Amino acid sequence: MSATPILEIRDLSCAIAGRPVLRQISLTVAEGEIVVLLGRSGSGKTTLLKTVNGLIRPDSGEILFQGQPAAAQDPIRLRRRMGYVIQDGGLFPHWTVEANIGLVPRLENWPPARTAARTTELLAALGLPGAEFGRRYPRQLSGGQKQRVGIARALAADPPLLLMDEPFAALDPITRFDLQRQFLDLRRTVRKSALFVTHDVREALMLGSRIALLKDGGLDLMLTPHEFLAARTPEALAFLSSLVEPWRAEPVRDEPASTETGRRE
Ligand SMILES: Nc1ncnc2c1ncn2[C@@H]1O[C@H](COP(=O)(O)OP(=O)(O)OP(=O)(O)O)[C@@H](O)[C@H]1O
Ligand SMILES: [Mg+2]
Repeated sequence: MSATPILEIRDLSCAIAGRPVLRQISLTVAEGEIVVLLGRSGSGKTTLLKTVNGLIRPDSGEILFQGQPAAAQDPIRLRRRMGYVIQDGGLFPHWTVEANIGLVPRLENWPPARTAARTTELLAALGLPGAEFGRRYPRQLSGGQKQRVGIARALAADPPLLLMDEPFAALDPITRFDLQRQFLDLRRTVRKSALFVTHDVREALMLGSRIALLKDGGLDLMLTPHEFLAARTPEALAFLSSLVEPWRAEPVRDEPASTETGRRE
């Protein structure tokens, strides 16, 4: 394998307010690969994405984007080449849906007709059709709709790398499964590269080319989904145990205690 990875993170450490949040993280995202960052709440997933996007400066370590040190690149141009789906949407509240989705195309000076066509295409692809929808403001959308607009905004200018922070978390299970499948199709057809955050082990197994498991800001392991199923670190086992299907577990019976041992009044 000689191709330069689209993203390389080398020995990255970061402390916030004096507390270590990322500890010597090293990982790569190859061209066309979806690396899933899996970890409990507070394990450092969002912080790692923000560091890659240049929103947080690491204390030590290095990030290479398309083979070049990210710290040496113009941060604004760098960000436009990373489609960032922010946890909880992060839409501009005073901009319409159309204006939010067209943000990067406008900055890149696309002709308005091309931006409009791309917006319409993305709204339809994400199950948000209709011109009326594009004219709404974020406050007029449900949580899951806002999340989908956030995904559309990240995809709009077709960036080489996607940074996705729990992009499907606020969706109902049917829409979520639909978008997960669309995302898989996207991976097969256009070979999108992504760093994709989730705390849902099923989603990690379904979407990841590889799974990077974070624990307390450190990289516990990095494996393919198939290898992850056989992983035996305590943290991997904790996630795998959540795969038990609750409907197969022993039913909880709401029955009185056995009369032999039960006390009678
Ligand atoms: N601005 C901040 N000030 C202080 N502590 C912070 C700040 N941002 C993050 N942290 C701390 O850093 C740790 C990692 O936070 P981060 O948001 O990266 O976690 P996460 O893995 O994305 O969690 P979640 O799954 O809940 O989104 C947490 O302990 C968090 O409290
Ligand atoms: Mg987070």
